[in-house]
Order: sequence, then structure tokens, then C-alpha cells
Amino acid sequence: MNSIYGVIGDPIGHSLSPVMHNEQFQQLEIAGAYHPFHVKTERLEDAINGIKALQIKGVNVTIPHKVHVMKYLDEIDPLAKAIGAVNTIVNEQNKLKGYNTDGPGYVRALTEFAQVDIKSKSILIIGAGGAARAIYYSLVSHGVKRIDICNRTIHNANKIIEGCPFEVESSSFVLEEASGRSDQYDIIIQTTSIGMYPDTSECAIELRSVKSGAIVSDIIYNPFQTQLLKQANLLGAKTQNGLDMFLFQGALAFEKWTGIFPNIEQMRNTVTKHLGG
Ligand code: ATR
Repeated sequence: MNSIYGVIGDPIGHSLSPVMHNEQFQQLEIAGAYHPFHVKTERLEDAINGIKALQIKGVNVTIPHKVHVMKYLDEIDPLAKAIGAVNTIVNEQNKLKGYNTDGPGYVRALTEFAQVDIKSKSILIIGAGGAARAIYYSLVSHGVKRIDICNRTIHNANKIIEGCPFEVESSSFVLEEASGRSDQYDIIIQTTSIGMYPDTSECAIELRSVKSGAIVSDIIYNPFQTQLLKQANLLGAKTQNGLDMFLFQGALAFEKWTGIFPNIEQMRNTVTKHLGG
């Protein structure tokens, strides 16, 4: 009998997670099946109780439930608690434990892509929403020494910095200042939805110069190359889109459920094919 896994969200129809996980169950000959569950906010508690009742082994949680779901779980991993959001639930003998693999997934994607010691690097995060918080706390928990945040609303950037339970040097500034300061950073990470399909002509900041050897990374993967990454390419920076983060957050969830780290390159091929090549 297959073990059942899934993803809950609203909307959920366009999620690439089912095809990505099901392909890996097949490839790795694991008796598992992963299903998208469309869950409205008012039915979230029922849906979470249903995980136990139906003996579902694990689920991913996506927009808009990542924060609210926490109050229905039996246990929450300390990093997920610090981030304030859960994207992965593991059903451990009828106890539901919540994790966040978005932030750790981003860090894995960055370190495996960049192959540099991120601890000594100076990092700028653009944006101060849920994704920024997950990435910021995960980078800090890996011992990064300096991370600044620039955001339209400075108060939201400061909330992330002040709420961080780990020690780090950090300051905040508004988006308009980013152009003049972008050449101070080794790694620039764009975490807002600005530039995402269909508004592909938009760009969070104007990148006029970058430090030699800099990496510019955007968590958007539709389009594969945002305006920001195009600018970064023209300036000679190394660029990374959001596909790697998506793959690694999924791979880390898969590993928590099955104990097996899946084949990232196969996952990349599957997802890329479904995104139209
Ligand atoms: P998520 O939780 O998915 O990361 P979010 O909480 O909606 O998304 O956060 C979105 C981020 O994008 C925030 O930093 C937001 O800036 P504010 O804190 O000022 O709201 C930023 N953002 C979204 N749309 C924006 C826009 N049009 N211009 C500037 N910043 C924008």
C-alpha cells in the first residue's frame, strides 16, 4: 500500500510539488503517492486533523497557510518557530511535527551553487516578507556574520532583524538606497514577488554596480531570468534563479519523510519540463 503525502494550499492547482515528488517515489521505488489538496482557510483545522485520521505520512504547506497551520501542530522545530512559518509537516506516530525547509533549502541551494564559505560574506536581502524571514534566519543560523535588509517598509525589515534569536550584524534601509549600496555585497538575494510573471518588466531595485565576484540570486523562477538577474548578468555577476531553492525545499521535505535525499538533477528535469522547458 502506498504511503500518502501531499501539499495543502489555496490555490493549489499550479503547484509543481506533486509531479516533482511522485517522479522521485517512482525513480527511487518508494511506495508513496503525493496529492495536491485544495484547503480553504476555514477548513484548515479540519484538514490538519484529517492528516492523523487518514494516516497521511507528511504534507507540505503553502500559501496562505504557512503561519496559521502552526497552532494545530503537536510540535514545532526550533528554526521553524524562529522563522514563524511551517512548510513541512511530518506525521511521527500520530504526532504532527512542523518544520521549515524553505530557508534551509535556500541555504543549501546557495552553498551548493556558490561553493563558497558564506560565513565570511556580506549579504543583502531585498524584501522583508515571509520568504525573507526564512532565508535571513537560516543564513544567520549557519553562522553568517553580516546581513542587511532593504525593503519598501523599513519597519518590516526591522521586525525581522529585532526578532532574530541568533547573533548577527545587521542594518536596514529603504529600497531607493539599494542602487547606491549594491556594490558593497558579495551576495544579493531578491525575495519579493516583484518581477514575477505576469509583471516581468518590473524590478525591485536598479542594479547599477556589483562587487567583483558577486552572486545575485532571485527566489522567482517564473520567469527563469527576472529583470534583476538580467541586470546582474550584464554587470558580470554570477546569477541564480529560484528554481534551486524550490528543488531543495522539496528535497529536504522528502528526506524528512522518507530518510532518503532525492535526486536533485532528476527533480530539476521534471520541473523544468513542466515549466515548458
Ligand atoms: P512572502 O511572505 O511570500 O515573502 P509577503 O509577506 O507578501 O510575501 O512579502 C512581500 C515582500 O515584498 C515585502 O517585503 C513587501 O514589502 P513591504 O514590507 O513594504 O510590504 C515586498 N513587496 C511586495 N510588493 C511590492 C511592491 N510593489 N513594491 C515594493 N515592495 C513590494
